[in-house]
Amino acid sequence: MKITVIHGQLHKGSSYHITNQIINKILSDDKEVYEYFMPSDTPKFCVGCYKCFNESEDDCPQAKKVQKIVRSMELSDIVVIDSPTYCYAMTGQLKTFFDHLGYMWLSHRPKEAMFNKVGIVVSTASGAGANKVTKALAQQMFWMGISNVIQYSKSVNASSWETVTDKIKGPIAKDTSKISIKAKAKVGKASPNFRLKFMFTIMRMMQKSNDWNMVDKNYWEENGWLDKKRPW
Ligand SMILES: Cc1cc2nc3c(=O)[nH]c(=O)nc-3n(C[C@H](O)[C@H](O)[C@H](O)COP(=O)(O)O)c2cc1C
Repeated sequence: MKITVIHGQLHKGSSYHITNQIINKILSDDKEVYEYFMPSDTPKFCVGCYKCFNESEDDCPQAKKVQKIVRSMELSDIVVIDSPTYCYAMTGQLKTFFDHLGYMWLSHRPKEAMFNKVGIVVSTASGAGANKVTKALAQQMFWMGISNVIQYSKSVNASSWETVTDKIKGPIAKDTSKISIKAKAKVGKASPNFRLKFMFTIMRMMQKSNDWNMVDKNYWEENGWLDKKRPW
């Protein structure tokens, strides 16, 4: 089983430790984990050159860094993304990475490999806002074709993992066990939900009349999605 883990931060705080618990509890003899940390693995900011949309994702000035992570995601059964809650949002460095993935949204050139993956998103806050972050992370996954997403948001009432009390760590340990079992059970069985299939249909209609971006349209045609074929 292959797992890609994208940490929205470099430090090993509450979000990291909770994510780590989940990954460690996903038991598999052939487990392979590809792990990335933002910002050390974050590409530079998107400069809005539109090369990924209009030419090829390989022509992005940041392609080397972006495609390395994308390839890991494509290979993986489970994609895990975590971020601490910063001002009710994900970290800036993680959003910078996501900005580079717009070309593989449903509205452009979604990857067939994404549609059967399992997603896990994690965020912690000291007080409020972590659920907004997991929702935003799940939304990013949805637009890439991953609708089976387990969201875990937690208010840890602390600024570091070391200062999270045992009273809070106890339930977290139980939750991470449940999440790992749930995620593992979904591997190989995940398929897009109704909303994702519906959005795909809308995007398909849009691509049928697309006369503004032939790179996108040709991609849909080559995949057979403008005919009867579907990516799931
Ligand atoms: C820049 C910054 C912004 C933050 N914004 C919020 C916030 O909006 N809501 C909140 O409850 N906690 C906020 N916090 C606290 C962290 O979200 C909280 O301590 C979290 O558990 C840290 O996760 P980590 O240990 O993985 O870094 C913020 C912390 C920082 C450094």
